[in-house]
Amino acid sequence: MRLIHTIKDMQALSRMLGAGKKTIGLVPTMGALHEGHLSLVRRSKDENDITVLSIFVNPTQFGPAEDFKQYPRNVEGDLAKLSPYNVDAVFLPGAEDMYPEGFSTSVNIGGIGEILCGASRPGHFNGVATVVAKLFNIVMPHRAYFGQKDFQQTVVIKKLAEDLSFDINIIVCPTVREPDGLAMSSRNGYLNIEERNGAAVLYKALKLGEDLILSKGMSDVSYVKSEMKNLINAEPLARIDYAEIVNVRNLETVEKIETPVAICIAVKVGRTRLIDNMIVEKK
Ligand code: PAJ
Repeated sequence: MRLIHTIKDMQALSRMLGAGKKTIGLVPTMGALHEGHLSLVRRSKDENDITVLSIFVNPTQFGPAEDFKQYPRNVEGDLAKLSPYNVDAVFLPGAEDMYPEGFSTSVNIGGIGEILCGASRPGHFNGVATVVAKLFNIVMPHRAYFGQKDFQQTVVIKKLAEDLSFDINIIVCPTVREPDGLAMSSRNGYLNIEERNGAAVLYKALKLGEDLILSKGMSDVSYVKSEMKNLINAEPLARIDYAEIVNVRNLETVEKIETPVAICIAVKVGRTRLIDNMIVEKK
């Protein structure tokens, strides 16, 4: 497992590997690795000759009042979790290498980055798109792996790749969950025991929405949303940021439920903002 700290070294390695006609899979992360991240590593290892995992807590995707400083950082622990997987390279750039003095270019992803999570996190998705575009140019992968957990992010990245003609396959992998359904997240570590128990309400709400649509045949968006909101509001520690039912391709809210749709929710549990989603499709 090579540890690579500079853009120059990573580009040199990727050029060398690519010239030998090896396929490269990239798993971009911000570290604090858990089973969700490791599922992307396994998929990349299955599908490529070479797997590169990047760890970079990207400052430009955090708002001024967000948790950039507090975000969990544990490179030693991450490398220990990765060691059984034998990834070919871990790319750990420094912020001064990624954003040197004078850095001024950024990707503006447009309206799709301003709805749902973008509405309460202005600039977040432009920060994500910019750093992912840089990672694509640095690692030059054939395939890049993202989790459905961050559904809006996957739509943003697919649009980035298409609009800017990156010749990279964007692969979306299923959400990995705790036994009670809570989606794994590096931010779950912020929750105290009561909040951790209360956080199970996100998955319960998604399952309720799915059941109303699939088993009960409900197509009335406001009814399904209000049932889900009632369930979440019954949890004293939870505060809804949004609960929407959207088109899976462009994330626009639908007027009538005709599957497939994505149910997307963001809920603050205590001080921690959690997101989750479910794609609902009639079989
Ligand atoms: P991070 O939150 O570290 O997540 C890295 C990748 O792991 C993302 O594609 C995310 O969707 C995926 N992931 C997280 N939890 C998951 C889960 N429970 N199941 C499946 N996949 C999961 O997302 C980012 O970092 C950053 O925005 C990044 C893309 C690295 C750009 O900075």
